[in-house]
Amino acid sequence: MTPQDLMKQEVGKAAAARVQSNSIVGLGTGSTTAFAIEFIGKRLAAGEITNVKGIPTSFQARVLAKQHGIPLTTLDEVDRIDIAIDGADEVDPHKNLIKGGGAAHTQEKVVDALAEQFIVVVDNTKLVDKLGSTFLVPVEVIPMAVTPVMRAIEKLGGKPQLRMGVKKAGPVVTDQGNLVVDVKFDSIDNPAELEKTLNNIPGVLENGLFVGVTDLVLVGEVQGDKVIIKEM
Ligand code: 5RP
Repeated sequence: MTPQDLMKQEVGKAAAARVQSNSIVGLGTGSTTAFAIEFIGKRLAAGEITNVKGIPTSFQARVLAKQHGIPLTTLDEVDRIDIAIDGADEVDPHKNLIKGGGAAHTQEKVVDALAEQFIVVVDNTKLVDKLGSTFLVPVEVIPMAVTPVMRAIEKLGGKPQLRMGVKKAGPVVTDQGNLVVDVKFDSIDNPAELEKTLNNIPGVLENGLFVGVTDLVLVGEVQGDKVIIKEM
């Protein structure tokens, strides 16, 4: 395991340890959350916690939850989400995020924003002083609107690029059947305003700026031959 994978594993484990019996848990997407899902499954199998139901944020989370024996439910069947655990691509000092590296940010935002407690799990390479420093802002767009949406983004000063598939000819298609445009902004001075402005473009479903939704960030950091978990 690489040091980064080790940080992801330990931070995932630390988040899973916070899940309590009789709770509804939002299950995020990505390689860090995958560890959290694995450890929630292990705790259930060991009888450490009981009566936990998951709400997946993607096809990937659904498959992993089933694999690790976590019963699933839907937003139609519950009136609350107690805790959501999800990864991020960037975290700023105000706990605002860029998400969507796995093109799952639309469902993630629905679930994470509804949770009583939203916990973000990252390794320390994801911490930035300012959003947009290392990662582009993912924007989910309905297919027929992709050209006018890219033009509108250019007018806002962004440089959009259509996300292309890997081992798949053509663009990435989201779990909702839409496309993803990744946008480079020279400087994101007001993430809250940009989040709203992007979502206001006709044809945009959701963007990957998560502002004011995070309750706690757990950060994995390698110190010597150990991984320590810091809280933010
Ligand atoms: C998926 C996401 C992921 O949570 C984000 O990309 C982080 O992934 P990883 O834990 O694999 O680095 O937002 O849409």
